[in-house]
Amino acid sequence: MTHRIALIPGDGIGIPVTEAAMRVVAASGADVRTETFPWSCDHYLQHGRMMPEDGIETLRGFDAIFLGAVGWPARVPDSVSLHGLLLPIRKAFVQYANIRPHRLLEGVEGPLKTRDFDILCIRENTEGEYSGAGGRVHQGTSEEVAVETSIFTRAGVERILRFGFEQARARRGKLASVTKSNAQRHSMVFWDEVTDELAAEYPDVAVTRYHIDAMCARMVMAPETLDVVVASNLFGDILTDLGAAIQGGLGFAASANIDPTRKNPSMFEPVHGSAPDIADQGIANPMAAFWSAAMMLDHLGQTDPAARIMAALEATTARGIGTHAGRDTTDAITQAVLTHLED
Ligand code: NAD
Ligand code: IPM
Ligand code: MN
Repeated sequence: MTHRIALIPGDGIGIPVTEAAMRVVAASGADVRTETFPWSCDHYLQHGRMMPEDGIETLRGFDAIFLGAVGWPARVPDSVSLHGLLLPIRKAFVQYANIRPHRLLEGVEGPLKTRDFDILCIRENTEGEYSGAGGRVHQGTSEEVAVETSIFTRAGVERILRFGFEQARARRGKLASVTKSNAQRHSMVFWDEVTDELAAEYPDVAVTRYHIDAMCARMVMAPETLDVVVASNLFGDILTDLGAAIQGGLGFAASANIDPTRKNPSMFEPVHGSAPDIADQGIANPMAAFWSAAMMLDHLGQTDPAARIMAALEATTARGIGTHAGRDTTDAITQAVLTHLED
């Protein structure tokens, strides 16, 4: 079956890594038809919106969405661009599970002494600290007040934790639930309680609760002790840049924004942003985008092309190509992966 993919390359390095990823997808034998949407900061500057008013409705008709990166803070404030494109898609399509794998590909050297870790971060992706509830009053005066309210619902917390338990069950049977319940005694204590309730349903999964600060240290000092890590939206965001760092850098970190009910299209994107500091230099590492594309094909049931991409990716890094930041060009890395795919 041909799957229809909506491509949103976005801004900066999002554009070349998306283009490279689609060359790799085409060479993998995947059966996809793509349509590109130029929604971006450029689009905002031309039309006053990051995407058209019916953008969400347009995307709804696709089997999946692939996004490069969004944001160009020197031209459009992030508070406008990300709230006009990336975040509304995650919410509108109830992509509540943001899955981010952290392991070292063959040949990639991370900053840690150990290579022995394989962590799956599961980030809540629709509520929590990103609920958007809040406001500002008395702006610009000495009485100014800014409020940003985190919202944790039973439905939202339960479904992400359940997703984490299921992933742990399918992997090595260990779940780490991350909160800050020693300081935040309403929402985070609630999260801990729901964790304990669900643990009774999953006697085969070993659950440990960690505080976010301790988890940051553990991911650096003892990453081999972790299997599946589940966290709220903001904690998961921060932990997964740390995860990217221990796997060799943001150029390797992939992600999938999943609606596990499959009622809506899911969205696949590298963890990194638009990297304005290196955009237009031709040196963005496209491997995070390749890995994200493989996750997309897997999700769509095109498991053979997905496996071929991962094998070609790892054969490339095993030869030391793309493993040193800035040394190999986006094109050279893409060409090396394409060569392995054609073998
Ligand atoms: P960033 O991820 O864009 O860059 C952080 C650092 O990592 C930079 O030094 C960059 O050069 C490097 N880097 C990132 N990806 C790389 C790659 N593939 N290859 C080589 N080096 C890479 O984060 P930032 O600078 O905080 O954000 C830049 C813009 O991107 C902002 O507008 C931000 O809001 C946005 N952003 C978007 C997304 C997204 O669309 N999913 C994610 C993160 C940040
Ligand atoms: C990510 C990004 C986004 C997030 C930003 C760009 C809003 O950092 O996908 O990790 O915080 O979710
Ligand atoms: Mn992030």
